[in-house]
Amino acid sequence: MALSVHLSAPVFAADSSPVSPSASTPAQPIPATATHAPADPATQDLITKGRYVAAAADCAACHTAPAPGSAPLAGGYPFALPFGTLYASNITPDPAYGIGKWTEAQFVRAIREGVRPDGTSLYPVMPYPSYARMTDADLHALYVYIMHGVQPVAQAPQANTIRWPFSLRFPLTLWRWMFAPSPEAARASAERSFASPELARGAYLVEGPGHCGACHTARGMAMQERALTAQDGPRYLAGGAAVDDWTPPSLRGEPRTGLGAWSEADLTAFLRTGRTTRGSAFGTMEMAVHHGTQYLTDDDLTAMARYLKTLPPADTKEQPWQADSAASRALLSGSRLTQGQKLYLDNCAACHRSTGAGYAPAFPPLAGNPVVMNRAPDSIIHIILHGATLHGTDAAPSAFTMPGFASRLTDAQVAALATFIRQAWGNNAPAVNDMAVTRMRKTLAPPSPHGSPEENPEKNTVTGGAENGIHPPTDAE
Ligand code: HEC
Ligand code: HEC
Ligand code: HEC
Repeated sequence: MALSVHLSAPVFAADSSPVSPSASTPAQPIPATATHAPADPATQDLITKGRYVAAAADCAACHTAPAPGSAPLAGGYPFALPFGTLYASNITPDPAYGIGKWTEAQFVRAIREGVRPDGTSLYPVMPYPSYARMTDADLHALYVYIMHGVQPVAQAPQANTIRWPFSLRFPLTLWRWMFAPSPEAARASAERSFASPELARGAYLVEGPGHCGACHTARGMAMQERALTAQDGPRYLAGGAAVDDWTPPSLRGEPRTGLGAWSEADLTAFLRTGRTTRGSAFGTMEMAVHHGTQYLTDDDLTAMARYLKTLPPADTKEQPWQADSAASRALLSGSRLTQGQKLYLDNCAACHRSTGAGYAPAFPPLAGNPVVMNRAPDSIIHIILHGATLHGTDAAPSAFTMPGFASRLTDAQVAALATFIRQAWGNNAPAVNDMAVTRMRKTLAPPSPHGSPEENPEKNTVTGGAENGIHPPTDAE
């Protein structure tokens, strides 16, 4: 809990210019073991800065176990890899189970290069190829924060279940040599010239600590990201493969499936609150907002949004979305409805309306929403089966839940619904077949308490039922 308490404290204004490595002045040697004696003002200031860096880098999303009430940064978030499950480490300053004995140099090497003090390599699930860009000043503050601002937790995270020979770490070293940038190269790219200091800051936050590409960039055969920065060309942030069955869309300028139609204000609202008039954050992105971006300053969110808006579309042939009212008219007339239309009226229209416009920002629009039009339908099938909860943030305290329909609808019905919302209102995205739903039902990651209410039937009725008070207005058009 300590971390969330810290994080909810008023966020200080981060230095909004990118800090060059030479500008870092490690104030004093930091004792290797955490001491929780009251810190002097200089250390207190670094703790505050470091807490902000931890939010910008989203350390807590991975290093905290998913069960509610889990100790912050004490490890345990499971990552399902093809050859077993990897658990994130305990990175509290506990000397036995955490990183309390690590020197700052050892810490910095692990974050930027993926190398542990014993010389072995980390799995690149830990996004060190992005963190390689982080400045000395940011890592110094982060180290001071972890050592002095985080409660040590004497608890071993769950043991990995990676099968031999994949459990051997030396191939990871080869991987590192082939695919991870050296900190020097990464820094050179972070310090390339930008049209404004703001764009430089936005690029730093997105490409570096924000590690947006870890999800939003496609990966190659060896699971390496196919581009690490905007300099690497149009594959960067052009949409990634599903993680936990949630598909990260393109963050480039495609007019339908990317961010072409989103304004800078839409983007900052999305990163601050997870909700906009264009769509809401759900699945793994909801976690990224919940643990990370909601705590950033307005200046930093604006810098990120501005930088994202400079990325031209990877798919240059895509046409803008155009509203088409045929589906709304059919739903309102109520006669001769297709199976998908009927199911939509019965299960979805109360919140998302027959126009597909939703009651944004509480209930997101489905018409013209890039995630609904994504070529890959995974996220859509997943959210219909398991639902999702959009947590309250400091700036938008109410939580909204989309109920899961796994127990109410058959695979064929889910496919018909997904196809309907992907094609109605001008969306015109490819249909979804039953097989895709059957497959997803089998492989779906166990619902996480962050993303999916389906496992908890009580919570499941929270916004759907009449007893709870969050009533979507009835569809009046
Ligand atoms: C996308 C998930 C993810 C994010 C974000 C992430 N980590 Fe990690 N981290 C991991 C995983 C998984 C491991 C374990 C890797 C392994 O065992 O090879 C790890 C390992 C580490 C280790 C090595 C610990 C040890 O005992 O060997 C440190 C230190 C660390 N992370 C610190 C951080 C910090 C600080 C941040 C934020 C700047 C961060 N991590 C963000 C997933 C993540
Ligand atoms: C009780 C109100 C409610 C009902 C009923 C409902 N939804 Fe949702 N829906 C939501 C909320 C709230 C979200 C945002 C969830 C989040 O961000 O975690 C959402 C999100 C979505 C999204 C993702 C879009 C985005 O940008 O977040 C899709 C797709 C979706 N719903 C489809 C459906 C379909 C199809 C049905 C009917 C089977 C349905 N919903 C029924 C409330 C509802
Ligand atoms: C752990 C994986 C993950 C990380 C890290 C991540 N995202 Fe996402 N993101 C997703 C997924 C999955 C979606 C689709 C669900 C949704 O729309 O919320 C998404 C959706 C989005 C959307 C909405 C796009 C749309 O078309 O509706 C924006 C904007 C976005 N991400 C920005 C970012 C930025 C900026 C970062 C880095 C600070 C980031 N994301 C990091 C997984 C991730």
